[in-house]
Amino acid sequence: MSATPNGTPANGNGAAGGYKWHNKYPHLGTGPVSADVFTSQEQFELERERIFKKVWLNVGRVERIPNPGDYFVQDLAVCNTSVIVVRGKDGAVHAFHNMCSHRGNKIAWDQGGTCQNFTCKFHGWSYGLDGKLKFVPDEESFFDLKKETLGLTRVAVDVWEGFIFINVDPNPTETLPEYLGDLATGLEGYPFGEFSTTSTSWTSEVNANWKVIKDAFQEVYHIAFLHKRSIPDSFTSKDNPYAHSLDVTLYPRHGSMSLFGSADYKPSPVAKLAAQHGEIVIRSDFSMDGLPAGVNPLRSEAWSLDLNVIFPAFFVDVSQGSYFTHQFMPIGVDKTLWTSTQYYTRATTPGRRFSQEYGNVIFRDIIMEDGRTFEETQSMLSSGAKKEFYLHDEEILVRHSHHVIDQMLKGQPVDAAFAANGKEAASHA
Ligand code: FES
Ligand SMILES: [Fe+2]
Repeated sequence: MSATPNGTPANGNGAAGGYKWHNKYPHLGTGPVSADVFTSQEQFELERERIFKKVWLNVGRVERIPNPGDYFVQDLAVCNTSVIVVRGKDGAVHAFHNMCSHRGNKIAWDQGGTCQNFTCKFHGWSYGLDGKLKFVPDEESFFDLKKETLGLTRVAVDVWEGFIFINVDPNPTETLPEYLGDLATGLEGYPFGEFSTTSTSWTSEVNANWKVIKDAFQEVYHIAFLHKRSIPDSFTSKDNPYAHSLDVTLYPRHGSMSLFGSADYKPSPVAKLAAQHGEIVIRSDFSMDGLPAGVNPLRSEAWSLDLNVIFPAFFVDVSQGSYFTHQFMPIGVDKTLWTSTQYYTRATTPGRRFSQEYGNVIFRDIIMEDGRTFEETQSMLSSGAKKEFYLHDEEILVRHSHHVIDQMLKGQPVDAAFAANGKEAASHA
C-alpha cells in the first residue's frame, strides 16, 4: 500500500492542543463505557428488539443477483428469521421471510442460486419470484384455501448505490434514504458499481459480542501496535505516530472518519510492483476530481482512506482505488457472523490481477490481526474483572456508537438527543 505525502497530521489531541473530537461533539461527554454491555443477555435481547428488528440492515450487493431468478439467503439470527433476497421477473429486488405458508418450513435450505419458483421441500407448495403462492398439491382437499392471501411474507427491501438493505419491521418508520441520511448523500456518485465487478470475502463465526468486533474497526488508535507487522508505516509517521485522524463527522446514528496516509511510507519492492500494475487499496497518484463531497471531505492531499460506519453494524470504507466493507451479524450475545469484503474493478491484465491479489493478501493480514483480539477480549470480558473502559479522543466513533445504542435501548429519539446535545453535530444531521 502506498500513501500520500505532504500531510500535516492531526496533532492537537490531548491537553496541550485541546481535545479535537470531543470539542467538536461535546454532547457525547468523556465518561467511560460500561463493560457489561458486551456480556449482558438482557442488553442483547433489547438490542435485538429495539435496534436490529427496527433498522435497515445491509445484506449484500446487487452484483450477487444480476438476473431474474437469482437469489441468496441471509440468515438473521438476531432478528429470529432467515430472509430470501431475489431478483424478480420485473427486474426489482424483493425480499421475503424464508418461511412456507403451509406449516412454516424454511423454503430455501441453501445459500443461494437461480430458480423460477421457490418450492417447499415438505409438501411441495410452490411460490413465484414475486412471492405469490402458485401451486398447492392436492389443493381440492383443503378447506376454503385463499391462495391469494398465502404468499411468502414480504420483508421491506431497498437498494442504495447497489447495496441491498432490508428491514424486518413490518411497518418501518423510515425509508432507507431517510435512515441513511446525509452520510449516504455524501457518498453518492462514488463508483461503487464499477469497483464491484471483482470481490474477495472472508467470513468467520466469532465467539465475541458484535460490538467488540465493530469497535475494533472504528478506531485506528491500535494501528501503531496491533498492525505493526502488516502496515508498519502506512498510516503512522514521525509526525503522526498514533495515526490521529484527519477528520470526523458524526450523524444522528452513523459516523465517518478520514485518515491520513503516512508521509514516511516506504513501499517494499513487492508493494511497489503491485502499485505499478493497478489499483490497490490506497494509492498515491489519485486526483480529487470527481470524488463525491463525502469522500475525503477536507480535500486533503494527505488523505488515504475514509471509514464510514452505517449503524448498527455495516462499514463502507472507501479510498481512491477501491473500497471494502465489514458486516457484523449478531448470532448471540457472545457470537457474531463477521464478513469483510474487498472490492475491485475486473482485472484486464495479469499485472492488475497480481496487484489485486497483493491487496487481498495485505487486507487479509490486517483483518487477521484485528480478528486475533476479538475472542481474547470477549473471554476476559466474561470474567467481570473490569466494570468500565476509558476511551481516547480518537475513539470517538466508539463513544458515539455506544451513545446511540444506549439512546435506542432507552427508547429515546436519537435525532432529538443529538440535536439537543450537540449544536455543531446537529448541523451535520
Ligand atoms: S410446510 Fe411447506 S408445503 Fe408444507
Ligand atoms: Fe485494525
